[in-house]
Amino acid sequence: MIKVAPSILSADFSCLLDEVKRVETGGADLLHIDVMDGHFVPNITLGPPVLSCLKGKTNLPFDVHLMIENPENYIEDFIKAGAEIVTVHVEATMHLHRTINYIKSLGIKPGVALNPSTSLDTIKYILDDVSMILLMSVNPGFGGQKLIPGMIEKISELKGIIQQKNPEILIEVDGGINVDNALDIIKAGADILVAGAAIYKSPNPKEAIKKLKKE
Ligand code: DX5
Ligand code: ZN
Repeated sequence: MIKVAPSILSADFSCLLDEVKRVETGGADLLHIDVMDGHFVPNITLGPPVLSCLKGKTNLPFDVHLMIENPENYIEDFIKAGAEIVTVHVEATMHLHRTINYIKSLGIKPGVALNPSTSLDTIKYILDDVSMILLMSVNPGFGGQKLIPGMIEKISELKGIIQQKNPEILIEVDGGINVDNALDIIKAGADILVAGAAIYKSPNPKEAIKKLKKE
């Protein structure tokens, strides 16, 4: 069953908890939290204190996507604030294998994210250690962008590799997903769809989540 992870990047931050509840009651499976530092990506969002405010007030697991340099310095803070999955970018950490195992040693699931132009070769030697691979289907930094069509092939390629090497790994796809392209993404092999604008900018987020899952 396909999972949907609404990205709070497109939510109204003046009433964040209501926005979280809206997608929770709407059938979301995870809460995708985009953390940006203004260095790794040209945008700044939020940090652990915001997660701490939501912790205990929703049953949605926090799926934390770190678009920050040297993520290893902040992982523990995000876990204390409630993160259940922490995803680091392969382009942002010098010692990926060490970082993944550090996340595991803290008792939660590690994810690894790849920018659109980053080769799948970069994750070849960490497939035994990781729980989730996040493929960016837009260049990271902003919500509401258009999916890069070539990423569908990348998802299929990754699916093939995973089936051979470690079928337990989940594929999360992030960026530009909507009800019109969800089917192609799922067919290519995605397990989790992240969607920001398609859910939060829709007049009926619950319906949007339902449609994404139906695909
Ligand atoms: C982009 C973020 C995405 C983004 C998705 O850098 O990682 O999670 O919020 O938003 P949409 O679905 O609007 O592209
Ligand atoms: Zn994201």
